[in-house]
Amino acid sequence: MSIAEVLDTPPHRSPVVPPRPDYAPPGMSSLGRIAAMRRSAIGTWGERAYREDIVKGNFLGRNSFTVNAPDAIKHVLIDNYENYSRTHVGIRVLRPILGEEGLLLAHGKAWKHQRRTLAPAFAPRAVGMLVPHMLSATDAMITELAGKCGPPADVREAMQRLALDIAGRTMFSFSLEKHGAALRQFVNDYAHRLAQPHFLDVLLPLNWPSPRDFSRRAFRREWTQFLGVLIAERRALGTSEGAPRDLFDLMVAARDPETGDAFSDAQLADQVATMILAGHETTATALFWSLYLLSLDQSAQDELAAEAQAQGARQPGELDTTRLKFTRAVLDETLRLYPPAFLIARAAIGPDAIAGQRIGKRDVILIAPWLLHRHERLWENPNAFMPQRRELSVRAGEHAAGHAARSRDDAAGSLAGVSPHAAVNQREIGLGEL
Ligand code: HEM
Repeated sequence: MSIAEVLDTPPHRSPVVPPRPDYAPPGMSSLGRIAAMRRSAIGTWGERAYREDIVKGNFLGRNSFTVNAPDAIKHVLIDNYENYSRTHVGIRVLRPILGEEGLLLAHGKAWKHQRRTLAPAFAPRAVGMLVPHMLSATDAMITELAGKCGPPADVREAMQRLALDIAGRTMFSFSLEKHGAALRQFVNDYAHRLAQPHFLDVLLPLNWPSPRDFSRRAFRREWTQFLGVLIAERRALGTSEGAPRDLFDLMVAARDPETGDAFSDAQLADQVATMILAGHETTATALFWSLYLLSLDQSAQDELAAEAQAQGARQPGELDTTRLKFTRAVLDETLRLYPPAFLIARAAIGPDAIAGQRIGKRDVILIAPWLLHRHERLWENPNAFMPQRRELSVRAGEHAAGHAARSRDDAAGSLAGVSPHAAVNQREIGLGEL
C-alpha cells in the first residue's frame, strides 16, 4: 500500500446501526400476535426467526412456516411454484386496488400469458426509453426541495410524490399534476382504511365477504372509474406504435407471442393499476430509507455526493448509471436493511416437503426479506449500515437484497426473461440525482 493510499484510508470507525423494532417475546399467542401486528408485523418475529432455517408456527389454527433457507425459498417460489398461490388474505386485500387481471395477482396459465405478453415492455431498450421521464420528474423535485432549504421538509411525503410522478410520467407521458392529488388520495385512503387485514378477513373463506370487503367493493367501483378517466385521457393523446414513448404505448402494443392476443381493456386497466401501485410505493420507500441512512452517516453521504458530482454536467435526459457504483451500493444496502416488500406469503395448494418439514394443503409459507436480510448466519453485523460490505456483491443473484423481488421473474425463466424489476435498476437515477 502506498503512503498516499494510507493517507486516503479513512480512520476506522464503527458503522452506523439504525433503529429496528424489538424482537417478539418467546411464546406469543395468536391474540398477542394480532395485537402486536397492529403496531408492526416485524415485531411479531422472535429471535429464533433470525437464526434458524425454518420456524414452524400456528396462527388461528393454521400451520405457518417461516422459511429462511435459500434452497427452500427457491423450491417454493421457483421449482414448485405451481403448488403455491397467494394467501386468501393477500388476494382479499390486493384485488380491489390491483384487480384480478394484473400481473401481480395472476396465477398459473394466466400469469404465464401475461409474463410472455409483457416481456418486450421491460426489455432493457424499452426501460432505457423511460429514463428521460424519470429524470424530468426528479429534476422537478430537486427544484422544489432546493426552494425549501431551511425549515424541515417531510422527506417521506416528498419521495412518495416523486415516485408517483415518475409512475405517472413513465406510464402515461404526462405529469400527474391534474390527477396526482386524487391518485394519492385513493392510494392513501386504501392503505389506511382498507389494506390492513381484519381478523375476519383471515377467518372467512375468500368467497364469503368480510365486513371490510363491502367497503373494498365500493372503493373498487370508484377506483376503476378513475383509472378509466386516466386511460381515456392517455388514449386521446394517441398511440405512437412506431416509436413508443411510455409504458402505456408498450402495453397497448404488447401481444402474446403464441396466440397473438392483445390485452383486453379490463386487463389493461389492471396492468396500469398494478404497475403504478407495485412500482411507486416500493420505490418511494427505498428512496426515503436511503436518504434516512445517508443522513445518519456523513462519510457515506460525502462519498455519494462526490460520485454524483464526478459525473459532471449532463445533457438533459442523460445519465450514466453504470458509473454510480457507490450509489448503487447504498441502495442495495438500504434494500437489505429496510426491504420495501418485507414479507411474501404463499398458501400450499397441495402437500409438499420443505427443509425437512411436511407441508399440508392450505399451510402458509412466509418468506420475509426482512428476516433474510438480517439473518445472523447470512450476514456479518446484520443490523449495521455498511454499503461497502462484501456480501452484497458476493450474494448478488443468490439471496441478497432485492433477490426476492425477482422470485417469480426467475420462475418465468426463458419464457420471459425480463421483468418490471428491470425498471428498478434505474432507481439509482433518483438517488444519484438527489
Ligand atoms: C425497490 C423497488 C421494488 C421492490 C423492493 C419490489 C419488490 C417486489 C417483490 C418482493 C415482488 C414479489 C411479490 C410476490 O410475489 O409476492 C414484486 C413483484 C412485482 N413487482 Fe416489484 N418491487 C419494486 C419495484 C417495482 C416497480 C418499479 C414495478 C413496476 C414498474 C414493480 C412491479 C412488480 C410486478 C408487476 C410484480 C409481479 C411480478 C410477477 O409476479 O411476475 N415493482 N416486487
